[in-house]
This record gives sequence, C-alpha cells and structure tokens, in this order.
Amino acid sequence: MATKGQYDEAARMIDEARRIVAFTGAGISVESGIPTFRGAEGLWSRYDPKILDLGYFFAHPRESWEAIREIFYDYMGANARPNAAHRFLARLEEAGSLIGVITQNIDNLHQEAGSRTVVEFHGTARTLVCTECRDRTPFTEHDLSELPPRCTRCGGVLKPDFVFFGESIPPEAWRESERLLGEADLLIVVGTTGEVAPASMLPYQTRAPMIEINVEPSRYTADRTDLYLEDKATVAARELAKRLGIEL
Ligand code: APR
Repeated sequence: MATKGQYDEAARMIDEARRIVAFTGAGISVESGIPTFRGAEGLWSRYDPKILDLGYFFAHPRESWEAIREIFYDYMGANARPNAAHRFLARLEEAGSLIGVITQNIDNLHQEAGSRTVVEFHGTARTLVCTECRDRTPFTEHDLSELPPRCTRCGGVLKPDFVFFGESIPPEAWRESERLLGEADLLIVVGTTGEVAPASMLPYQTRAPMIEINVEPSRYTADRTDLYLEDKATVAARELAKRLGIEL
C-alpha cells in the first residue's frame, strides 16, 4: 500500500502539471475483469503466446482464431467496462492537464471512459483487417462462429487489428507517441511490467518525472520511476481524485 505522504506528493505533482501523458498496460484493465498477460493468473499461463505469432497465425489461421476468439472476444468482448482508473485519466484530459494516453491495451476501455487522445500502440481488437485487401471492419459485423472469419469483399482471411508478435508497430502510433512524449511535463505509468519492447522503451523517450502505479514493482520501478504508488489502479485513482477534487 502506498502511504498518505506518497499520495499527497503525487497529487501535488499532478496538480502542477499541464501536459501529462499516461502510458498504460494490462494492469489498468484487471479491475474491469480483463486478465493480464503475465503473472500467476496471466493469459500466458493458460495459453501459448504462439497463437499471437504472425507466422503461426498465417500457417494455422483456424487454430489461432479459436484461442483468439476465446481470449479476446468471448472473454473481453461484451461485458468489460471502464473502471475508476480509466475514468481518472479521462477526467484529467477533460480538465486540460492530460494531453494523451498511450496504451498497450486493445480493449478500447480508455475510449469508452471518455478519453479522446488515445494512442493504441498495439492496435485494437475492435476491428478486423483483411490479410489480402487490408479492408478494416468492426468485429461486430462478423459472425465468429465460422473460423477463420473471411473478408466479405475478397474472401481473404480476417485478422484482429492488433499487433502480433513479429508484426511492426503502426507508424502513426510511433509518431503520435513520440509527439506526446516530446511535450510531456509528467508521465503517469499504470499497470505494465515494462517487459515487451518496443512499447517498453517509451517511458525512456521523455525526461519528464514519472509516477508509476502498479501492485508490484516493474522493470521501471528501480531506475525510471520517480514516485512509485504500490496499489491497484482503482485504489490509486480514488486516492488521487479525492485530493484533486475530481469526481470519478
Ligand atoms: N492495478 C495496477 N497494476 C496491476 C493490477 C492492478 N489491479 N493487476 C496487475 N497489475 C500489473 C502487474 O503487476 C503487471 O506489472 O499489471 C502488469 C501486467 O503486466 P503484463 O501482463 O505483462 O501486461 P503488459 O505490461 O501490458 O504487457 C505488455 O505484452 O503480451 C503483450 O501485447 C501484449 O500489450 C501486451 C504487452
């Protein structure tokens, strides 16, 4: 648990900042019911990450899609809702002190919480892209009982529009992330191990002070983090909102 003094200091830093950038990982969505990738209950303890390897997907589209559907559409699909931590970042943006969220998550929960400038560094599960003609359509337009889903325009195999292992980061996601980090006067990092490159390098692309919210130390805590709040994302969000007079 972070201390009262740490929350007072974090609230002071946030109150003084005018160009905050948030960088989030799976941990911010855990309290929305979405499991993390790593750790005891993580998805990679139950599924083989090879299902998100681009080569495996092209070689075995149906097998890959069976696991992808279970993890990202059955699991995350319908009922995940934004939590207080997503709303906290959206309120900071509405108040004019946060300029953008860079997320590794593909669950769209920042947008559903009201965040407007969201960089989806690993793409999104909300749209499917045709591996032949590159046409993009909302996943809700497709019947995922037939796998792999096929493009209605050209018959090509559809792929979730998120970044697979072995796939490059969308260039516009890089550009927008670097623009935001170049302007940042405070970085708030929530719920990421900092283990997956190149996303994990982003906190090093700015010299802004960094507040980290996580239930356990990450790759950043010892050498990049200036103020570590060891709590669940929603607990930290509520403690900070209380001090900043923000309604969640
Ligand atoms: N509040 C805050 N942090 C939490 C919470 C919580 N309630 N629960 C777990 N965490 C933290 C864990 O301590 C861990 O540091 O969230 C982090 C989850 O780590 P990962 O599962 O590795 O998620 P992430 O860092 O986002 O993974 C990066 O890896 O598999 C790829 O593309 C995938 O975007 C993902 C990337």
